[in-house]
Amino acid sequence: MNRNLLSQTLSGLLLIALGNSVQAGELPDKQAELKLAAPSPDAEYLKMRALSTIPQGAFGDKVRLGYQLFVNTQQLRGKYVGNELNCVNCHMDAGRKANASPLWAAYLAYPAYRKKNDKVNSYQERIQGCFTYSMNGKAPESGSEPLVALSAYSYWLAMSGLMDKYGVAGAVPELSDEELLKGGKREDFVLPEAIAKATSLDERAKLPGRGFPAIPKPEQAYSPARGEQVYRAHCQSCHGENGEGVAMAGVYSLPPLWGPNSFNWGAGMHRVNTAANFIYENMPLGKSIQLSHQDAWDVAAFVVSHERPQDPRLKEGKVADLAERYHKHQGYYGQSVAEGVVLGTQSYPINPAKQ
Ligand code: HEC
Ligand code: HEC
Repeated sequence: MNRNLLSQTLSGLLLIALGNSVQAGELPDKQAELKLAAPSPDAEYLKMRALSTIPQGAFGDKVRLGYQLFVNTQQLRGKYVGNELNCVNCHMDAGRKANASPLWAAYLAYPAYRKKNDKVNSYQERIQGCFTYSMNGKAPESGSEPLVALSAYSYWLAMSGLMDKYGVAGAVPELSDEELLKGGKREDFVLPEAIAKATSLDERAKLPGRGFPAIPKPEQAYSPARGEQVYRAHCQSCHGENGEGVAMAGVYSLPPLWGPNSFNWGAGMHRVNTAANFIYENMPLGKSIQLSHQDAWDVAAFVVSHERPQDPRLKEGKVADLAERYHKHQGYYGQSVAEGVVLGTQSYPINPAKQ
């Protein structure tokens, strides 16, 4: 983590303020809720090659750019990013950590069919979703450089891991931009023979470690009030008294959990269950898997019961209508937790310029 923080800080200092705020245009799909089982205790996670082995040349440059955008997404602030987060804040260890929704497992699970809108989502569309909601920004155009680079980085992680696991030597095969953007779950995805023989498409799409694995349901109904006690004891020292995170010289080293600079009401992390799963497995940083399941649920409820940037799908409609349409899950949008204030009615702006 220190290396990431350092590189974020250094590149952040070089950040150039990028013009005015951009309005969210056409909206990609909302963040899919993955249905995931508890991690198996003997699961063997894919091990990818060291980043220092990314080759020189045009293809390697794309992979490296993807890595840089992933750990310092603030380079895209004002253009595609409207909060103070970086992709790595949720997909930890530069998108490599198992059970923190790693990119290597994700890459091999797209294109994916979505029942909800009867549509097939490519890998680039999934990334566009995280820009729109988790980054409270505006999705980069299909086929644009950031999406190619982030796809190339994900592909390289996945393929290098598979190659090492199945004894295939040599450099990761290069793919065209168009191929990279689709994802690796397709019959025409070119694979070294040893890998194609040893694994099926479906097995590769369900690698152990994918997503944020589900923890058991809480014994008592989750409670933001109890969660506040957990927060003060285990989270506040890093994430701040009001979930605002910690910044020095305008660069955040500890990310905001709610308020104007965090993910918006359309992001997957605003669901209590998704946040509980993430928190149990990954927080408090460096001491994860120590909270009780109940504490993880309660603190997740506390975190996501605060106001944050608006759900970009709200146009002229009312919060109640949007809540009815998109928020029939474990979340607080359209509900009141304190003093009759309905969450979603005093939300912060979508994709604002940096203050
Ligand atoms: C606030 C936390 C957060 C941030 C920041 C974030 N994501 Fe995500 N991302 C999620 C959640 C939550 C999911 C859905 C996982 C689930 O439901 O288990 C997800 C899913 C994904 C997936 C699909 C994973 C899979 O296995 O299907 C990809 C790819 C992805 N994000 C890429 C990105 C990229 C690229 C960025 C930065 C531009 C980013 N994310 C920023 C929270 C975040
Ligand atoms: C030692 C400092 C530290 C503590 C304590 C800590 N966190 Fe974090 N948290 C981080 C850092 C750093 C990240 C970003 C991880 C990265 O970029 O690799 C993070 C990321 C997160 C995220 C996803 C990003 C975002 O801004 O939404 C959530 C949610 C979160 N923490 C919740 C919690 C909760 C709840 C607790 C208490 C149970 C907690 N954290 C305790 C340092 C900490």
